[in-house]
Formats: sequence, structure tokens, C-alpha cells
Amino acid sequence: MMSSDRQPLVAANWKMNGSLDTIRPLMGKLIEGIRADVKAEIVICPPFVYLAEVASLLGRSGMVLGAQNLARHDSGAYTGEISAAMLLDYQCRYVIVGHSERRTLYGETDVLVAEKFAQANKAGLTPILCVGEYLEEREAGDTDNVIARQLDAVISKCSIESFDQAVIAYEPVWAIGTGRTATPEQAQEVHAFIRLRLARHDERIADNVRILYGGSVKATNAEELFTMADIDGGLIGGASLDANDFLAICRAA
Ligand code: PGA
Repeated sequence: MMSSDRQPLVAANWKMNGSLDTIRPLMGKLIEGIRADVKAEIVICPPFVYLAEVASLLGRSGMVLGAQNLARHDSGAYTGEISAAMLLDYQCRYVIVGHSERRTLYGETDVLVAEKFAQANKAGLTPILCVGEYLEEREAGDTDNVIARQLDAVISKCSIESFDQAVIAYEPVWAIGTGRTATPEQAQEVHAFIRLRLARHDERIADNVRILYGGSVKATNAEELFTMADIDGGLIGGASLDANDFLAICRAA
């Protein structure tokens, strides 16, 4: 739909993987491999405890730092939580919000996800808002309803204008870490639906927002996904832990 001068974005979601011994060589290979021919913006989202290390390794590589989660409060008696301000202290620019693992394993509701999105926005971090349906929901023909519900919760709490500084990631839960990727057509259909849903409020914002696909993206399927009109890059889990695979995905974007 409409224009598409959106800069591609590829984000690495390392999840709870890695150690100082593995991230140093991984970052070394990425920095060496990211050449001028990579047009996409590259965001690395390590576990919290490695943010400082990765921030210092990133240096002038052009890649930027993101976090995997944040607290919904500013500060205070919230043992174990990490605030938006703390992420800014470590040069984070992005933060993943509402990943399906957070929603499913840690009980994050649409309301909580919207609160976290608001926190990120208020602090000047760019939230990467994850949305996506379970397999049963897809099979029941409910995909659009689920995505609409997840988006609307954020729009009603934070306003459509907040999407001027946000990225959306469509991650069908049945495709995450399963090796079962959505087809380019299946993904495109949902991406177009997301854009339409935002366009009901503001066409310019809908046209400008970057929508990433996530769920078993690999070096071998990235290109066909990224050529679809409404797919502006990827949120990469498993394949981001291998420098060669991740670099190939970055080049495909
Ligand atoms: P995957 O994970 O690439 O390993 O499927 C994607 C994600 O959870 O962000």
C-alpha cells in the first residue's frame, strides 16, 4: 500500500542465550561482516546483564542496542525489574515489548503490554511491539481479531501518535522457534491488516511505521519474506546467534 521509503530494520533477539565467552566472538564477526552494502538498520537485543558489554563492543559499528523487556514503572520497590531510564543509561534505543514468550510464560496481558509501551515511549525509547496469534486462533479464523485486540489495547492507552516512534513485529506464535515459518503471503496478509488497522486512525502513521516479521526467519527464507510490500525487516531469534546466518539475513533486508 502507498509509498514505501521505510528503512528496513533487522533486530536480533538473543533471548536468554549467550555468555561473555560467546558474545565477544559473535559481536566480533558481526562488526567485521556488516559492510556498507547493508542498508538495514541493525538492532542487537542481548540479555540485560550483557547490555554494557555489547554497548562497548558496538562502538562505531553503526549497529544499535535494544533490550528485550522493561518495567512498567519509573523506579521504586519492584525487585528484579529494569526501568526505561536504566536502559537509556546503557545507550539502548529500542526495547521489545509484548513478546509472545512474555505474554505466554509470564502472564503479560494486553493492558500490561500497553503500559510498557507507554513507558518506553515516554522515555524516548522506540518500542518494538510484538503481536501474533496462536495456531488454534489461526485455525479458528481468528487471526485478525487477535491482532486487532493486541493493537487496539496499545492505541487506546497510548494514542495513535505514539506509533510515530514505534516498530511493530508480527510474530505468529506457531512460527517462533519451531522452524515453521509463515509463508510470505501469510505474513504479508497480516502485515497489510496491521497497516489498515492503524490507517483507520492515521494514514500517514500507518504508512510510515515499520512492521517486522518474526518466527523462524533464516538465511534461506529471509529474502522472499522481505520482498513483500508490507514487510520491512525481521525480528530474529535462533538465527541471530550465528554470525553468518544473521549477516545473510541483514543483507537480504
Ligand atoms: P525465532 O524467534 O527466530 O527463533 O523463531 C523469533 C522471536 O521470538 O523473536
